[in-house]
Amino acid sequence: MSINYTERIPNNVDLGSNRILQRALEHWQPEFLNWWQELGPRDFQVADVYLRTATSVDAKGWATYGFVRMPEYRWGIFLADRDPNRKIGFGDSYGQDVWQQIPGEYRATLRRLIVTQGDTEPASVEQQRMLGHTAPSLYDLRNLFQVNVEEGRHLWAMVYLLHAYFGRDGREEAEELLERHSGDADKPRILGTFNEPIRDWLSFFMFTYFTDRDGKFQLKSLAESSFDPLARTCSFMLTEEAHHMFVGDTGINRVTKRTLEVMKELNTDDPVAIRKAGAIDLPTVQRYLNFWFSSSLDLFGSEQSSNAASYFANGLKGRPDETQYEDHIARESTFELGVPDGSGGVKTEQIAMRNAMNEVTRGSYVRDCDLGVKRWNRLIEKAGHSFRLSLPSTRFRRNIGAWAGVPTDPQGNPISQDEFDRGKATWLPSEADQAYILSLMHGVYEPGKMAAWIAPPDRGINNNPVDYEYVRMA
Ligand SMILES: [Fe+2]
Ligand SMILES: [Fe+2]
Repeated sequence: MSINYTERIPNNVDLGSNRILQRALEHWQPEFLNWWQELGPRDFQVADVYLRTATSVDAKGWATYGFVRMPEYRWGIFLADRDPNRKIGFGDSYGQDVWQQIPGEYRATLRRLIVTQGDTEPASVEQQRMLGHTAPSLYDLRNLFQVNVEEGRHLWAMVYLLHAYFGRDGREEAEELLERHSGDADKPRILGTFNEPIRDWLSFFMFTYFTDRDGKFQLKSLAESSFDPLARTCSFMLTEEAHHMFVGDTGINRVTKRTLEVMKELNTDDPVAIRKAGAIDLPTVQRYLNFWFSSSLDLFGSEQSSNAASYFANGLKGRPDETQYEDHIARESTFELGVPDGSGGVKTEQIAMRNAMNEVTRGSYVRDCDLGVKRWNRLIEKAGHSFRLSLPSTRFRRNIGAWAGVPTDPQGNPISQDEFDRGKATWLPSEADQAYILSLMHGVYEPGKMAAWIAPPDRGINNNPVDYEYVRMA
């Protein structure tokens, strides 16, 4: 169904035919806008921003571009088209018809899954709200705001499901999604990582590369759900999400590129000299990567999880790209897991495959993360340097799961707490690193100009040149 933009809430779910739902969402809309004004991007609400807006849910030509003031962005409800023949793709009810309504016994669980996903969307907008002041270019500023308005739309996506399928409980959850705030002492966001403010653009690029990619894999798992409206909502969100990871991928690429230029000009790889020239030395990039990758890994949950097993058995949340697996029931198979043996070593455990679903998803995520690392390394290799970026082990610096609080080096070898504390300065961003990165952060708002620590992008947005005026300040 095509998107209707004549209604107050743009949608492709024929909202006009359900007056009660429409009124409930129209009641929530001003509360959302208040939240956006209060906790969305700070001080740029009257700027004209070159943004894309969804105009269809087809893979081809789904968006249009134009200048919009962010509070006037047309947030709406867009679901991928319904496949009337879609069947349940995994778990105990494999092959049966998918659900258009929620079976009573799964109501509470599905609500929790939707709320947890929904909570991350506005949280990231809150975390990033100060970044507009220090954008390295207008191109980057525009990308930040594009990500922000789309996370706002993802909140709409989850709020629609809560309102449409969960009655009064759903309406209350939708209110609370605007009441919890990132970093709030009394009402924090649900997941830990989403309560840390993002103060600098290197962290923003790491966040969009690693943490938005966690979002991609969560959405992929939910896009497999037997609850068809959830699956269709998440399918379309994935289309939008791709740009967020592009921002992270190309951001880290451009930082690396600029650093390599400086290394060539100065003929040195000495971090002190590179910093003097205003660029970011590669070991510092690696330390930020270690931090954000490891904190994003925790978002997948424990390696062994009975919740994950029941989500899978009941068809609520599957594996990303479920069709790539041969066995969609996974009742008999097992998974080999490396866990601490309690005396400084590692032992292998065989666990039921269904209990290992978090780890299976995490494994797919890690392989996906590695593709970007390989691309960045090609730049470094081409420039003739032996330094390589790398993902640390999934055991490194974990706070959740079997390796939580177990000190290891970045290769995943168990070490003593003392060794870990000594190694920290080389493995994770130190206070001095953070102070240096923060010292680089100044807004660059002249069209085409870039901050000294980042190379320009290869191309602009929607065939516009890099020096296009992507954001027009009021
Ligand atoms: Fe999102
Ligand atoms: Fe995102």
